[in-house]
Amino acid sequence: MPLITSTELFEKAYEGKYAIGAFNVNNMEIIQGIVEAAKEEKAPLILQVSAGARKYANPIYLRKLVEAAIEDSDLPIVLHLDHGEDFDICKQCVDDGFTSVMIDASHRPFEENVEITKRVVEYAHSKGVVVEAELGRLAGIEDAVSVSERDATFTVPEQAAEFVERTGVDSLAVAIGTSHGAFKFKGEPSLDFERLKQIQKLLPKFPLVLHGASTVLPEFVDLCNQYGGKISGAQGVPEEMIRQATKLGVCKVNIDTDLRLAMTAAIRKHMAENPDNFDPRKYLGPGRTAIKEMVQHKIRNVLGSGNRL
Ligand code: G3H
Ligand code: 13P
Ligand code: ZN
Repeated sequence: MPLITSTELFEKAYEGKYAIGAFNVNNMEIIQGIVEAAKEEKAPLILQVSAGARKYANPIYLRKLVEAAIEDSDLPIVLHLDHGEDFDICKQCVDDGFTSVMIDASHRPFEENVEITKRVVEYAHSKGVVVEAELGRLAGIEDAVSVSERDATFTVPEQAAEFVERTGVDSLAVAIGTSHGAFKFKGEPSLDFERLKQIQKLLPKFPLVLHGASTVLPEFVDLCNQYGGKISGAQGVPEEMIRQATKLGVCKVNIDTDLRLAMTAAIRKHMAENPDNFDPRKYLGPGRTAIKEMVQHKIRNVLGSGNRL
């Protein structure tokens, strides 16, 4: 099975009201844990690489590891650039064999975002690669309490429709109150589902993307803290909210923080319980298993993408 684009995956996900998990990858164990989970659950998969991951692992290593995962698993896998900040990195990834790229010009003025996204779409489409863009800024809901503040940061539905029409982009990341990292909400978690419904209404059948969608599972935060970690005030998006989003046009759910926490918790536990060990396989192995189990849980109980091959 070669690398695929997300077009067909999103069509099916939209119709079936489920979402494809898009997991950030940085090394071999992370890739293996995710892919083993998807294989067991018979789930299509998006593996995404950030600029930071490319810098850390060296782009060619990640690409070859993903190729190995495809050969080994025979799964439909999309290789996606996460948060490409300019045309050049998107072009580089298209030329390197990625099947999907994100151009994230969401911090720029609307017209500039349109222009740069259009340029990436033109190039990527000429090579058979699909493009995700972002409109609105991902900020914690506590950063946008009033309606006018929300409108300044969250995605404006009418603008989303105009943006998609003018750019020809294949999917759109929307800002409805999620944020990156482990500290998403100060008080009660809440997302702007009314806004999401409006966006879906103006963009029927169009695949939306939710970034910052980790749940920050308390079991992993607690394990980290139990074994020497110091993570306080962490809070993610409740699983029920992710499920709800998948019913409203969200076809791609981005998860990185939950992978980091699962792996770190398992490694911390191993280190604390085996202070005499210095064989990396003995702690990276449990890290990989923790990732696998967490991803299986997501596919099965949150995303609904299992048994969809
Ligand atoms: O959206 C951000 C992802 O979690 C990737 O993070 O840039 O540290 O690799 P990173
Ligand atoms: P989390 O930090 O919630 O895992 O979000 C990851 C993400 O959006 C990657 O693009
Ligand atoms: Zn993101």
